[in-house]
Amino acid sequence: MIRNNSQNQGEQLRILNFEGNAAKYIDELIRLDRTCLSTYSTVWSEDNFMLDLPQKGQLSKLAILEDNLIGYLVCSSYQDQRICHIHRLAVRSDYRRLGIAQRLCKTSFRECLKLGISKVTVETANKDIPAKNLYTKLGLRLLEGAELYDYISRRGKEQPNRFSRDRDGFGVYSIELKRY
Ligand SMILES: CC(C)(COP(=O)(O)OP(=O)(O)OC[C@H]1O[C@@H](n2cnc3c(N)ncnc32)[C@H](O)[C@@H]1OP(=O)(O)O)[C@@H](O)C(=O)NCCC(=O)NCCS
Repeated sequence: MIRNNSQNQGEQLRILNFEGNAAKYIDELIRLDRTCLSTYSTVWSEDNFMLDLPQKGQLSKLAILEDNLIGYLVCSSYQDQRICHIHRLAVRSDYRRLGIAQRLCKTSFRECLKLGISKVTVETANKDIPAKNLYTKLGLRLLEGAELYDYISRRGKEQPNRFSRDRDGFGVYSIELKRY
């Protein structure tokens, strides 16, 4: 779905599973994570990327263009493999607004349905407008009240105060998947 970019004419974006492919791109994953997410959270190391989590290999995706990593999505399942959680998502700055994050998410959501997972959750900083817009566009909605409390209890979060509405707080977004 790369569009409006003549430089990319003829190039084919490939979305690959983490399983069987992440090791090959591990240096690029660490570099891209440092570039895109260092202001957002602690930068991930090889151990973080390679940590074994439920269904991570199938739910997590790599966006590859001409054998270069230009984006990634890291997810795993929880609640007895019934809910998918998005841990990490980033797209290289020179390839943004081309639909790559949407494509990574939609591919993973389709994988969720194949695996019998019908719900997705993600936490995002209140000040991160691009991510909030992206999740809203994909149909996710902000959890509030009892739903937010339920999420915090299920995930065993030790800092419920981090989910405040102020600019430095975080919101939890979720979607019930029906078809993707
Ligand atoms: C957030 C991020 C992954 C989006 O990647 P992307 O490939 O550019 O996203 P898409 O092209 O699929 O955009 C889909 C929608 O998201 C929203 N969006 C994306 N970038 C945006 C921006 N800079 N400003 C406002 N809305 C934005 C728009 O609604 C967009 O749809 P549109 O282009 O039709 O208007 C990317 O900006 C990024 O890597 N940011 C740094 C890392 C980060 O913040 N990760 C999220 C942590 S939870």
